[in-house]
Amino acid sequence: MGIQITPSILNADFARLGEEVARIGSADLVHVDVMDNHFVPNLTFGPTMVEALARSTDTPLDAHLMITDVDRHAPTYVEAGCASVTFHVEAAAAPVRLAREIRAAGARASMALRPATPIEPYGDLLGELDMVLLMTVEPGFGGQSFLDLVVPKIRRTRALLDAHGVECRLQVDGGVSPETIERCAEAGADTFVAGSAVYSADDPDAMIAELRGLAEG
Ligand code: DX5
Ligand code: ZN
Repeated sequence: MGIQITPSILNADFARLGEEVARIGSADLVHVDVMDNHFVPNLTFGPTMVEALARSTDTPLDAHLMITDVDRHAPTYVEAGCASVTFHVEAAAAPVRLAREIRAAGARASMALRPATPIEPYGDLLGELDMVLLMTVEPGFGGQSFLDLVVPKIRRTRALLDAHGVECRLQVDGGVSPETIERCAEAGADTFVAGSAVYSADDPDAMIAELRGLAEG
């Protein structure tokens, strides 16, 4: 599976989101951080905003849902036009049923783990998923420092995916930058969210190219 760079719009200018997404034309996916002030101590936007964004760009959207009661809300984001929907396993009551619902509705199903959540209990679920997201910061805010303690889990997740022989992307999110992306790629990640690194760059597309080059090694 090839490398994918998926910039997060969390650090973009929310008053000009359409233009901000147009600045990252070389992105493989646009990462859309949905926060509800319950699962994480921050609040962003909901399905109406995501639907407007989906209409404004040809780049597929991945909704990263940092919300409670996610079993009930996730299908709404497929209807809103997201190509991929990521739910947190810590928030999902029935992750297998939810992954199947997301796929049946026509999107890719992705499951996220906070830094302290182990991957091992979920090995048998991997075949139900199109992507696993390992958070490399505590979710809630952009611009935090990369947590090196997650790197061994990236390695263990890659080994589990290989052992189960499933076609499933391995994504990392949080503090991904030119300084940290190579250690994620070496450990086995193939899909990289980058928020502040991309949106604080003078030329976001140039930063995407730099990250892609470093990840490809
Ligand atoms: C954090 C979000 C991330 C965030 C990444 O809770 O899930 O997607 O926007 O931002 P950076 O790359 O700045 O850590
Ligand atoms: Zn995210």
